[in-house]
Amino acid sequence: MREKIQLALFAAGEEQPLKGQLLKWVGNKQRVAKDIISFFPQRFGTYFEPFLGSGAVLATLAPVQAIGSDSFSPLMEIWQTLQDSPETLKGWYTERWNEMNSGDKLKAFAAIKSRYNAIPNGGDLLFICRSCYGGVVRFRQKDGFISTPCGIHDPISPDSFSERVDIWHERVSGTQFKRLEFWQSLNMAKPGDLVYCDPPYSHTQAILYGAQSFSLKHLLQGISECKDRGVFVALSIDGTKKSGNTVCHIPIPEGLFEREVFIHCGKSMLKRFQMNGKTLEEECVSDRLLLTWNDKTVSQRNRAQLGALRARASVNPVEISTSNSLPQPDDFYPD
Ligand SMILES: C[S@@+](CC[C@H](N)C(=O)[O-])C[C@H]1O[C@@H](n2cnc3c(N)ncnc32)[C@H](O)[C@@H]1O
Repeated sequence: MREKIQLALFAAGEEQPLKGQLLKWVGNKQRVAKDIISFFPQRFGTYFEPFLGSGAVLATLAPVQAIGSDSFSPLMEIWQTLQDSPETLKGWYTERWNEMNSGDKLKAFAAIKSRYNAIPNGGDLLFICRSCYGGVVRFRQKDGFISTPCGIHDPISPDSFSERVDIWHERVSGTQFKRLEFWQSLNMAKPGDLVYCDPPYSHTQAILYGAQSFSLKHLLQGISECKDRGVFVALSIDGTKKSGNTVCHIPIPEGLFEREVFIHCGKSMLKRFQMNGKTLEEECVSDRLLLTWNDKTVSQRNRAQLGALRARASVNPVEISTSNSLPQPDDFYPD
């Protein structure tokens, strides 16, 4: 049944991205999630998303079987609660929304923020990300304290939030949520699995996700090991800025990726926030999407797989297509 839903989503090619984010998160891929998944293989084993953030790509894909993870504990508390007890998540939001709407808005926001800063927790983080200025939660580098002021907007009503919880709960029904460092997640992926990585922006130093450590070098090493054991890996990287005039150079090892595409993300939300609401026309941002596979590598792997099957079962030869269509590693997962 769930497999049917996943295939239907692919086949229907929804015109709009999944409407309504559950969380507001710096660098979220909400607007381009559908473009990103259009480059994924159509069939794969378990889907891994080791830099989950607000889970835009995961929820758009709605995979049958997945592991969504992030190293940020309060964030994973939100995801685990969405999975295990959506009513609790709705309650967390409603309590805080009532707190903010029953008195002084700024004071209520400050109280929620200091509660979070005293003991970081999912409930307060959830409400802060929906109600803070520009929806950009900023964390102090040395200790992860949230410093963002209260937003000027009214956070969505508990009814709207509850609707989103129901939709997102359904979308992630095949996903296990875990608090993991990215390398722990990469180590779990098996041949034929798919990993989508959206690491912290390495070009924009101002963005910090709490007091977390991240090493691009270690990520690239982990991706290389995944590729060697037949895992498909897609990596989003901060692409171009200033309408393509400045390309962000990242030391990518030769031969690690087989394919590169540019995905246009529109104006940079973070820049807009930093410039006090001023929109800068030249501040366009594209994401680079790097893939460890291409049609050729997939069909080569399919051929090797088929060779092994023939040797084992002495089956009649079957023609394997080597056409230039999108990768279809179906032979790993016959129905
Ligand atoms: C660019 S955001 C991901 C955004 C996500 N694609 C979305 O749509 O919201 C990067 C994420 O990486 C997480 N992160 C940072 N360092 C990490 C690490 N060492 N291991 C795993 N996750 C990490 C951050 O907590 C943050 O949520």
